[in-house]
Amino acid sequence: MRYNAEQTRHLQDNTVLLLKKTHDAAHMLHHIVGLRDVLRFHEYRYYVLNDPLLSDAEYDQLYKALEKTEAEHPELITLDSPTQRVAKGLTASFATVSHLVPMLSLENSYDAHDLIDWDRKARELTGLDTIEYCIEPKFDGASISLIYEEDLLTRGATRGDGVEGDEITTNLKQIRSIPLSAGFAALGIRQVEIRGEVLMTKNNFKRYNESLAEQNLPPLANPRNAAAGSLRIKDPAEVGRRNLEAFLYHISYISLIPGHSLPKDLNSHQGCIDALWSLGFRSPKKEKEVVKGIQSVINHCLDYEGKRDDLPYEIDGMVIKVNDLSLQEKMGMTTHHPRWAIAFKFKARQATSKLIAVEYQVGRTGSITPVAKIEPVPIGGVTVSSISLHNEDFIRQKDIRIGDSVLVERAGDVIPYIVKSLPDLRKGDEKRISFPTHCPICNGLLSKEEEEAVWRCTNLHCEAQVVERIIHFTSKDAMDIRGLGEANIRKFFQLGFLKDIHSIYTLPFEKIRGLEGFGEKSMNNLEEAINNSKLQPLHRLINALGIRFVGETTAKTLAQSVKHLRELQDYDREKLMGIEDVGEKVADSLYAFFHQPTNLEILDRLEALGVNLSAGQDHIAGGSLSGMNFLFTGTLSRLKRSNAEAIVESNGGKILSGVSSKLNFLVVGEDAGSKLEKARKIPSIRILSEDDFINMTGSESI
Ligand code: IVH
Repeated sequence: MRYNAEQTRHLQDNTVLLLKKTHDAAHMLHHIVGLRDVLRFHEYRYYVLNDPLLSDAEYDQLYKALEKTEAEHPELITLDSPTQRVAKGLTASFATVSHLVPMLSLENSYDAHDLIDWDRKARELTGLDTIEYCIEPKFDGASISLIYEEDLLTRGATRGDGVEGDEITTNLKQIRSIPLSAGFAALGIRQVEIRGEVLMTKNNFKRYNESLAEQNLPPLANPRNAAAGSLRIKDPAEVGRRNLEAFLYHISYISLIPGHSLPKDLNSHQGCIDALWSLGFRSPKKEKEVVKGIQSVINHCLDYEGKRDDLPYEIDGMVIKVNDLSLQEKMGMTTHHPRWAIAFKFKARQATSKLIAVEYQVGRTGSITPVAKIEPVPIGGVTVSSISLHNEDFIRQKDIRIGDSVLVERAGDVIPYIVKSLPDLRKGDEKRISFPTHCPICNGLLSKEEEEAVWRCTNLHCEAQVVERIIHFTSKDAMDIRGLGEANIRKFFQLGFLKDIHSIYTLPFEKIRGLEGFGEKSMNNLEEAINNSKLQPLHRLINALGIRFVGETTAKTLAQSVKHLRELQDYDREKLMGIEDVGEKVADSLYAFFHQPTNLEILDRLEALGVNLSAGQDHIAGGSLSGMNFLFTGTLSRLKRSNAEAIVESNGGKILSGVSSKLNFLVVGEDAGSKLEKARKIPSIRILSEDDFINMTGSESI
């Protein structure tokens, strides 16, 4: 249901009244219907319009009040209550269900000629000189169908083979932009089947792949696969955490309430899209364009292709539909596709190429990453010649061989990915990839921990690891030594000037100044930058040491927990785990680091060379936020994330890296994802909007 200005004001007034009364059980019970309406309204503002009127904490307060009231009076629970999205337990298996109307595919077109041909046929079939078309983005996700009966969402299914799909109602209920009920009855409609596309936004996809990388799992190729895979997860709560979205773009079936006739508005495709929007669905009302004649269609499609990368989600083309539904009926369909619609496909972001060789890169923790060298191929405006193969399992699962033709994909700003090898094109001289047993750089033995997919070089003095360690040490978020970038580090290492991180502070500048390409001025600047870095705050040094699983955030927590880095040497695992934000994995890694003699030797040397190992300003005992843990999620609009974090730290608070019961405040910006979902389940965490945070700290900028 779309809300007009008056309804919006009324619901907002009700929101304010209800918020004041959540402690009053009798009041909540009396107003349970209004409470549900208010929550539905705010879900709509948040998930469909992307324009919330309520902070998450306030939404939460009302949601909990409803949950409590319903728990005390289960007889009052309605099937479309906002609480009914939450599913208990796992889905054993997905039943196969038939679509009310087969989900046909679309004919494809690739250029203006194809569209002109198609328009000619459409004009012949309809007998018209000019046809009115409705053009929409072709959403690149997973196709679904929804059935509403007597206003209630009763079934959701995947496309399957077009005739039958998997019943995934519970999973689809986790997508908050899909209404659990919608006012079809008011339009005289008893049952309706709607089609649409489930998407994962580019941002959520990136985050999802990052979380896979943290677990040493290979990334997914594109948001389409991520959306399709997410819909088939057996744990609905996990589906909820994936933050999927849905566009609904087609009404495929309507059965009327006896005595009613089809509303006039539904006689055009545009009318259907607008009606779906008014009923509270996320339909492409704003994304669609209605034009007359094929030339306008062509112009619009080419125009939109230019905007493709600016959209928050992937589209792989446009869909052109004859707008008038009676004309659609006249044109009919083939067994494969309707004749009244066609897809205009954008230039492919996939290409085939040949795998020439596999090289192995050694990371700073000794991780060995296989990298495919392919015959250079242009994809989406970029020439691709090198693609990560992630780990040995990835190569085995995809049966990738040297000499194979491979299908490569680059979805928007997503890094290139080998989708599959093409075994049908093999000639017989392709070679299986034998993963090395020894480090390609130092020949040290490789080892792999149980349950890990990554092989690592066990030699701590491995040149490749040392160079990567130095590169990380000097990087912007670590010791930030400008002028000592990767190229110079490699050069100085080759010349024997750099041996490990401590030798940065003993670089023989008298020799370097005599070398070609190392000017007096830039070397003076570099010397100064190196000297200045000695006084960097402790958290930067901790991050710079490149201890496994210790990133910027954990480094800050550690620096705030000690007065001197050496203290950590005496911590056992238990004591390490007592530090905020330090779990078992991080504790093990820290323990191992501080019990490795070479590491202690490096710390000795750094200290002797004047590098700061004391917490100094990092260790804040007082401050208005002292003892409080914060985490920011989503995009902030008034503050820069780094400034917001600095506000917390300068007031004695801490920034945690994830949601746990140790967290006190989650500050939520736009497009917040799984962290918010997780935090909502932990009652002790207070969820703040950015404005709440600014009011609380009283500081807009520093
Ligand atoms: S209309 C009979 N509209 O593209 C109606 N499809 O390649 C046919 N798709 O199976 C579908 N965006 O999953 C339509 N705006 C859009 C679409 C769209 C994406 C998908 C749909 C279809 C596939 C065909």
